Amino acid sequence: MNIPAATASMSPAWLRKLAGGSACAPGRVDLVRLAGLVHHVGKIGIRDDVLLKPHDLSEDELAKIKQHPLIAAEILGPIRSAKEIADIVLAHHGCPDGSGYPRGCKGEEIPLEARIVRVADVFATLVEECPYKPSMEVKRAMEVVNALAGIKLDADGARILQQLVDEGAPMI
Ligand SMILES: [Fe+2]
Repeated sequence: MNIPAATASMSPAWLRKLAGGSACAPGRVDLVRLAGLVHHVGKIGIRDDVLLKPHDLSEDELAKIKQHPLIAAEILGPIRSAKEIADIVLAHHGCPDGSGYPRGCKGEEIPLEARIVRVADVFATLVEECPYKPSMEVKRAMEVVNALAGIKLDADGARILQQLVDEGAPMI
């Protein structure tokens, strides 16, 4: 099964299901959906020639791309009603092993909501066609997600995502 890019991109329905199936407090489930919708707003602060470069990014260019969570937090943070969303977006590249950015937080130091957004983001990126890579079959994408679980991706989030895939849950 291949998922068209228009539907794969951080499905709001799946974000809610991922959050709802996790230990996320019921009152914060919708924050995950909202954070997923705006999680890459910080890319507006990165030049197109870097953002859309298909491959061979220099260290400097990679460092610029890695600024997008910080830029997003700067945009969203001052909006009083979006403060919690800004905190999630800031942390959405955190990895359980501490290798993520921008702060290198580990495991449960990373907010649960951000760990969920990251699982959904990685999955959507794998199954979407991007300027720098073709789309990936869902089955193969889940193999990648499961291989990264507990290391680069939250293990619980990966498990819940696998359940959604197995159930064939609608993405819209
Ligand atoms: Fe990101």
